[in-house]
Amino acid sequence: MTERCGALGVLLCLILLSSSQALSKRRTPIMGWSSWSVYSCNVHEDGIKVQAQALSDLGLWDLGYTYIDVDDCWMAFNRSAEGLQQANASTFPSGMAALAEWLHARGFKLGLYSDAGTTTCQNRAGSYGYEAVDAATYASWGVDLLKYDTCNTVPGWDPEEGYPIMGKALNNTGRDIWYMMCNWGQGDPATWAGPRALANSWRTTNDLMPLFPQFYEVADANERWWEYARPGQFNDPDTLAMGYLFADPPVTAPATGNTLSYAETRLYFGLWCIMKSNLILSVDFASSEWPRWILDIVSNRHAIAINQDALALQGHRLWSDGEGGNNTDPRAVHVPAGLREVWSGPLVDGDVALLLVNRGESIATINATFTLHGPHCPKDVNVSVYDVWGQRVFGECASHFAMRVAPHDGILLRCSCARPATRPARKGKDRGDHAFVTQ
Ligand code: GAL
Repeated sequence: MTERCGALGVLLCLILLSSSQALSKRRTPIMGWSSWSVYSCNVHEDGIKVQAQALSDLGLWDLGYTYIDVDDCWMAFNRSAEGLQQANASTFPSGMAALAEWLHARGFKLGLYSDAGTTTCQNRAGSYGYEAVDAATYASWGVDLLKYDTCNTVPGWDPEEGYPIMGKALNNTGRDIWYMMCNWGQGDPATWAGPRALANSWRTTNDLMPLFPQFYEVADANERWWEYARPGQFNDPDTLAMGYLFADPPVTAPATGNTLSYAETRLYFGLWCIMKSNLILSVDFASSEWPRWILDIVSNRHAIAINQDALALQGHRLWSDGEGGNNTDPRAVHVPAGLREVWSGPLVDGDVALLLVNRGESIATINATFTLHGPHCPKDVNVSVYDVWGQRVFGECASHFAMRVAPHDGILLRCSCARPATRPARKGKDRGDHAFVTQ
């Protein structure tokens, strides 16, 4: 970069170098597995290996679920005599470098957790004042992701100043490390971490409860910031905590077993896919009790393709039957929630993802009227509507269709212009202004 600056100014370059954050080069949301809702603070090395092996055996690794994120409690209460972060000797006796090696040998990536305070939320050693040394330690172990929490910060600590310290320290290691801010949406991080490219993702809410309507309320809070997300930088509404039984004792959620129905689970997954959220499963695959149908949902290649779409732009609510929700302007920033909703997001080649949602308690018909504008899709050409869950073409229609949606369910669709064979592939650049949906 300095070479390209030329005479115009080494100074300008230095400013750019010191303020810009390279972070992970990955453009699409990460996919993987997290220990938190499965093991909480009882996380251990053997458990991580068993879960990773299960992801491989279940075909989830093949689908892209490759980041294994070891959350809080992997570390000792205190640093080593040299002031270094160290693994908890009884639960991770082989150490984190060995775990990284084990995971890398199987094609996985290792994520670790730390905290911007003096101690983590579970009172283990935090990174405050040790950012550079910790980043270097993580890089030397082969870490690929850092989730960085906000418990026990020193008085006056400012996230807008504190988060970049670790971000720069990670960048200085030269390793590609996905930087996942976790300050629970305090101070609206999308508005400052997004524009300043301070992280690859930032949590927008408190911890998710895998219950209906709680997970939907988290989605609402995350949707609000859709316009701030862009490739490599995403709003993070927390993990996909599905069908889990919390380790004893529960830390953030009641141990109620499987808390979501099939419909609710695919609605949850559909929202995360269309919002370009990280797809981090927090499912106890080692237990015999997780419902096997979860796999049908989280393995759906068409849903994953929507989440991993190369445009990497967040979808959002476009219409609802809530008060003020009947807005047909596709560029509308905020459409209020309702009982029936249509969410939409732009995809490559001018395709559009739609999620037809019924938040109510009885079956509802949702009408979608849409236009795929643009030279790639002439007005007289029909649009093909693909039913993602059913994995079949729902139909071809000029501009309108209606679907009946069960209570608490979300029907995920992909609309594509029926392409003439000669039409050249298009590199989409537009920002979601090519479809609208009304009731
Ligand atoms: C919370 C965070 C959770 C989990 C937990 C660990 O602050 O939101 O996702 O990481 O800390 O203690």
